[in-house]
Amino acid sequence: MTREMRGTASACSNIALIKYWGKRDFTDNIPLNGSLSMTLSQATTTTTVIWDDTLSQDEIYLDGERVLDGRGLRVSRYLDRIRADYYRMPARVASMNSFPAGTGIASSASGFAALATAAFAAMGEEMPSDTEMTRWARRGSGSACRSIHGGFVEWLPGTSDADSTAVQLAGEDFWDLRDLVVLVSRAPKAISSSEGHKIATRHPFMAARQELLPARMLATKGAVAARDLMTLGALVEQEALEMHAIMMSGQPAALYMQPGTLKLLHAIRAWREDGLPVFFTLDAGPNVHVLCESRDAPEVRARIEQLMPGLSILENRAGPGVRVHEDHLL
Ligand code: PMV
Repeated sequence: MTREMRGTASACSNIALIKYWGKRDFTDNIPLNGSLSMTLSQATTTTTVIWDDTLSQDEIYLDGERVLDGRGLRVSRYLDRIRADYYRMPARVASMNSFPAGTGIASSASGFAALATAAFAAMGEEMPSDTEMTRWARRGSGSACRSIHGGFVEWLPGTSDADSTAVQLAGEDFWDLRDLVVLVSRAPKAISSSEGHKIATRHPFMAARQELLPARMLATKGAVAARDLMTLGALVEQEALEMHAIMMSGQPAALYMQPGTLKLLHAIRAWREDGLPVFFTLDAGPNVHVLCESRDAPEVRARIEQLMPGLSILENRAGPGVRVHEDHLL
């Protein structure tokens, strides 16, 4: 008998305010420390999974093209983990990003949150709990566990696959904070984030960072709860620069910042001196995430456009958690 079971899900990417950089376990993506993120409304991945026992192997399509390289292999290996516990049949998978590929916006977070959810939706049985879905997303890519939830999210690090899960701190309507992602450079990363996690884990500064983080996490959660951008922004900038200090002094070193990155960071600090409440954070790449209140977003955007004309800016608010729906891609 032929069986075909289909499911589709959409998930938003997220930006870490407190970063996940370094792992305790590389198979299940158990982090060295907890992290905290905002889900990004404008950076969505939609994925359809069809479990199909007439296929001889998985077929993976990303942004409309069949992929046979390492990206497809990563998806297949991930599906193997689900197959080990559930159905053993091959799958056809199609995935589309709302943002252009190769922009450096983390697509693995939205990608694995959507893939995990679509894979379970396609089984046609009751969905696992949100907490269980954060575990499944994490096994694909650590930061993906935070994209299961909307709004502001904490990843509780735990020490094992069983207790490393993400929880929502506040929903997407709690605070109309904006993250203007400025696409400073589209050049591919010289050091991937999986390699970066390994280098960071053995970095001599990492022990000191782990000592500082619990207090910073507590203060950051307090600033989110109080919707206090001045406090939050100072913590988040320190955190981003600390992560980059570890990146750029690792063996081998990862110098993700480009000249445009630094130009914008200096400008943001000058605008703040001028009285405009605006802050930055960075991912493992050259793009700058510019944080401000919604009422200041038009002014912040105008200043960025004047400083660096022609760059794409993706303006996000806090986005929703993962959704299962019927707008299938296959
Ligand atoms: O989930 P990964 O393995 O792509 O790691 C993400 C790492 C950072 O984006 C740099 C930080 C974070 O917490 O998202």
